[in-house]
Amino acid sequence: MSRLDVAAMKADFPILARRVRDDRALVYLDSGATSQKPTYVLDAEREYYEHHNAAAHRGAHQLAEEATIAFEDARRVVATFVGAEADELVFTKNATESINLLAHAFSSATAKSAHGKWDGDPRFVIGVGDNIVVTEMEHHANLLPWQELADKTGAELRWIGLTDDGRLEYSDLDRVIDEHTRVVSFVHQSNILGTVNDVARMAAAARAVGAFVFLDACQSVPHMPVDVKSLGVDAVAWSGHKMLGPTGVGCLWATRELLDAMPPFLTGGSMIETVRMERSTFAKAPMKFEAGVPNIAQAVGLAAAVEYLERIGMQRIAEHEHVLAEAALAALQEIDGVTIIGPTNTVERGSAVSFTVRDLHPHDVGQVLDAHGVAVRVGHHCAWPACRRYGVPATTRATFYLYNDLNDVASLAAAVRAAQRFFEV
Ligand SMILES: Cc1ncc(COP(=O)(O)O)c(C=O)c1O
Repeated sequence: MSRLDVAAMKADFPILARRVRDDRALVYLDSGATSQKPTYVLDAEREYYEHHNAAAHRGAHQLAEEATIAFEDARRVVATFVGAEADELVFTKNATESINLLAHAFSSATAKSAHGKWDGDPRFVIGVGDNIVVTEMEHHANLLPWQELADKTGAELRWIGLTDDGRLEYSDLDRVIDEHTRVVSFVHQSNILGTVNDVARMAAAARAVGAFVFLDACQSVPHMPVDVKSLGVDAVAWSGHKMLGPTGVGCLWATRELLDAMPPFLTGGSMIETVRMERSTFAKAPMKFEAGVPNIAQAVGLAAAVEYLERIGMQRIAEHEHVLAEAALAALQEIDGVTIIGPTNTVERGSAVSFTVRDLHPHDVGQVLDAHGVAVRVGHHCAWPACRRYGVPATTRATFYLYNDLNDVASLAAAVRAAQRFFEV
């Protein structure tokens, strides 16, 4: 049984007390899309706006100084949470922006080099004959930026396939990754299948050919202990809103060496060293990647989220979710007609559980679940190629977090049975 006092914790999240659809208790099973926020995080943002709000890194007055300190303190807290140094952590809008920032470094250096304007690191210049490797289970956020990069540069996009039971086809590695591979980018925990990938194995294959290694940790940093430096990758991206933080703040961690070598993404104020009409030079990372007035209140809220998570402990959260995943897999598989899309056991697996119900479209399932107060996501979950791989147009997906318990699993299973009864399948 889980060791978290979920009933007490639920009280920290005001929204979880909501009644929905004909006065039903809300059963929130959509934290993979976005998590709910505890009062502690809401208060931190409000306190910042009420007492310290100003433009960080600009202005000579006391509030500007306090806003700068609040922003940089938040960076330190979030960096420490993942075992990083503060100056290796870039605040972005979300993980999608973090990954675009990375991909843009290559297209920017490549475009500049075409007319002799890139005198930086040649590893960022790619083109025809090179290849970029992703996997078939990527979220669109970790697929489209690399597709675009391939289209802009003439490099080839390749991918590692999936096994029938929802794992990476590691036997593809030798065939797909070769001496022309420049980038290997893959997800830590799949948002649709729940699979937790073997980062060391993927990173070793990429490193063996000198490729950059990027990890999409959107579904791992919120759910398990992650130490970015021990992963053996060059860069890691994740979103604040999936880990109890506010929307509007994401993270990019990369080695200092990589951040120094990368060209900027967005340009403008606050990311410069000197500016002349002809040309400008850029600030050091992380500011080089934070053009404009940054998301200060959101970073402050994210730091509060980290404090909240740390008080509970990431290992305990991971164990708690493991129990919920096991219970959900068992309860769903007991229902005739339900098929799990993804690993059916809890080995190397998180608590994102996707499934289909025979003779029912996922949207119909979702609607009945919603009528019972059970909030899940239906659709392709921004991982359309993975749906195609398993021959389904969409799935119903339940995702669990620290504020869910076994009652929520039971509500999910009961609502799925109710959907079958309603549609008489
Ligand atoms: C695995 C994964 N990668 C990337 C993203 C994109 O995150 P965001 O929309 O916050 O940028 C998500 C969001 O669902 C995700 O689950």
